[in-house]
Amino acid sequence: MAATPAPGAPVAIGIDIGGTGIKGAPVDLRTGRLVGARHLVPTPQPATPLAVAAAVRELRWQYADLPDDTPVGVTIPAVVRRGVTRTAANIDPAWIGTHAVELFTVALGTPVVLLNDADAAGLAEIRLGAGRGEAGVVLVITLGTGIGSAVFADGHLVPNTEFGHLTIDGVDCCPWASAAARVRENLSWAQWAARLQEFLAYAESLMWPDLIIIGGAISHDADEFLPQLRLEAPVVRAELAGDAGIIGAAYEAGESFRT
Ligand code: BGC
Repeated sequence: MAATPAPGAPVAIGIDIGGTGIKGAPVDLRTGRLVGARHLVPTPQPATPLAVAAAVRELRWQYADLPDDTPVGVTIPAVVRRGVTRTAANIDPAWIGTHAVELFTVALGTPVVLLNDADAAGLAEIRLGAGRGEAGVVLVITLGTGIGSAVFADGHLVPNTEFGHLTIDGVDCCPWASAAARVRENLSWAQWAARLQEFLAYAESLMWPDLIIIGGAISHDADEFLPQLRLEAPVVRAELAGDAGIIGAAYEAGESFRT
């Protein structure tokens, strides 16, 4: 259950855009805890920029009691460079080249920050979750419809790494080793873990992280596959899983818009 914000506590709203649902909640920036009910609206189909912007607006106004200038952070499963979405692996191709920050700012009537969904989840894990206080290089991998990655060097994010799209023998790892692939192809945990092992070993050979954190809803089933992985770095499950994107986006907004 959501906590109540302490009086005067800084609050920002985090909104996490996914392939099937868009979820959001207000976050107390001192504690990182959700301080209002989590709302979910279905992702419009097709998920065009205008349709998604309208859904994000609907979600924002679920919190009409929060001041109009409450900072808002939004995540999207795409590369985001200088406010422009540059890829669309699991979203409508119309996002490529869209000035998404401008779009959401107009839709909400307030400035927003926008970041890649895995980067947002990683930020939350580094601040509050499994990566708290970790020095060195940390690789956060989110497993869901796709594979997201976030890389941190001494707590600083290197955005848009997109390790999920590494290719092995010409095959994009993203649809091959994602959590969705296990369900779609009816793979056993062992079969799927073998794919994950190949993907993670390859990513590890490129950057030699000190710690690997596995997030996404499937991290709840970590006991089924983490023990099967053999990597150089310790591999741990994420601690915030479902709320990490919301929390990371809210933090980023709080940092960008509050002095
Ligand atoms: C996208 C990434 C995203 C990941 C997880 C991939 O298909 O390219 O940007 O982080 O899915 O949603």
